Amino acid sequence: MFIAANWKAYVEDAERAKKLAALGKRLAGKCRKHEIVLAPAALHLGMLAQGNKSKVKFAAQDVSLTTGGAHTGEVSAQMLENMDVAYTLVGHSERRAMGETDIVVAEKARHALAHGVVPIVCVGERERDAGAEYLSLIRAQISAVFAPLTPKERLMTVIAYEPVWAIGKSAADALPSHEVMEMALYIRKVLGDFLPGKAPAHTKILYGGSVEPGNIRDLAAGSGIDGFLIGHASVDSKTFSALVKALS
Ligand code: PGA
Repeated sequence: MFIAANWKAYVEDAERAKKLAALGKRLAGKCRKHEIVLAPAALHLGMLAQGNKSKVKFAAQDVSLTTGGAHTGEVSAQMLENMDVAYTLVGHSERRAMGETDIVVAEKARHALAHGVVPIVCVGERERDAGAEYLSLIRAQISAVFAPLTPKERLMTVIAYEPVWAIGKSAADALPSHEVMEMALYIRKVLGDFLPGKAPAHTKILYGGSVEPGNIRDLAAGSGIDGFLIGHASVDSKTFSALVKALS
């Protein structure tokens, strides 16, 4: 399974970041069937990712819409590439809530791919409606990113489905596994518009939103997803170990 830890701004201390990264490396070394990806804050990312030779991979939590130059405060895809960063989240709901549109998310994904950084495109509805209008929103979020990409780039791109209403709560509030399965099927159907033949079956789809040691195994078992994007439960060493162990 693909286990991505989104540390958000939870980890503010560099020593704590180093300890969590060391744990991630130990777990990645032990559980070789999983791909463990850590997404620290930008400030800690370079320190942890550069020269990393372990099995753990690193991700940025966001990437700039711009290339290098006169753009104060930006972290460009080129900088990520230079620091051996393998992935970047794009379009996390906490970024979208600050005004990031589908067009911006798509452009960020393009920048990342142009530098060999694989985008983990976050999609998800803020709320569910009885008429299932939210499905059109998910389709629009995916289509905006995939349409401008080359066939090869489309094959590399990872999708994280995170219903916004399930983020940052507890296992009881996560989407039940049969509904995660329905969403994974729906997302693969949408991907059929952009990928040939059986290719949508090979796109990595992650679920995120209150994944905890208590529900991860159930979510993994019958849901047809390839892994998880985990927030609050990934920044406590005991809990993160328990998450990885639950999948082993
Ligand atoms: P959570 O966050 O695991 O704390 O719900 C997931 C995310 O926002 O990526």
